[in-house]
Amino acid sequence: MNIRIFNSQEDLNEAAADLIGGLVLRNPSAVLGLATGGTPVGIYASLVRRCAAGIVRFRDVTTFNLDEYVGLPKNHPESYFSYMRKHLFDAVDARPERCHLPDGSAADIAAECARYDGLLAQAGRIDLQLLGIGHNGHIGFNEPDHALLSGTHVVELKPSTREANARFFDSPEQVPTHAITMGIGSILKAQSILLVARGADKAEIMQRALYGPITTDCPASLLQTHADLHVYVDTAAGRLL
Ligand code: GLP
Repeated sequence: MNIRIFNSQEDLNEAAADLIGGLVLRNPSAVLGLATGGTPVGIYASLVRRCAAGIVRFRDVTTFNLDEYVGLPKNHPESYFSYMRKHLFDAVDARPERCHLPDGSAADIAAECARYDGLLAQAGRIDLQLLGIGHNGHIGFNEPDHALLSGTHVVELKPSTREANARFFDSPEQVPTHAITMGIGSILKAQSILLVARGADKAEIMQRALYGPITTDCPASLLQTHADLHVYVDTAAGRLL
């Protein structure tokens, strides 16, 4: 496990963008696993700047997002599809047909999960999976449970997760109750994983995830079993590491 603790958000963003951008430079047709939420915004902004400066290209990159809300139309401002367009896809030279997210508005959600797993299987392997972490240790939307699923599936969001994400919506009731998420098996299959956390409110869960028991009560703790895990945190989130 490679843990790096950064004094500034900017340094963290640049280091994470170095890791992702460096991979894309070495392998222009890399497969990236991408995350949403507040955590990766500055990392994407750095990648956008690098692309504008001609340092990195996304033309041949394939991307898979971790998750999507169920029931939001794709173009809803808070869908993860809209998030990714705003923060990355529309601002770089990515090709839309190579940028995959689960479709939370699909009429047949089970078929949509199977379609997504089919696309992942076709891609072979994710070269680098970017992850944030929920306060309860969720990764993607794999919430703590007595058992975790390997493949893409629907989850009911915990009230605490809906509360945490209410900041992005006009009112808490508007946060969807369900989401489609890539499973833990797909996440752990990635060649390399970059887990990022910021802020004092993530310090305890980061300690549990990295040094606590490996348990489905804290899905991020399964990352301890991964052979190439990189953890980038700011000093606040890394206080207990
Ligand atoms: C969200 C997403 C996760 C994300 C996590 C933390 O709900 N589904 O992919 O990593 O919760 O979010 P944030 O970065 O906003 O703290």
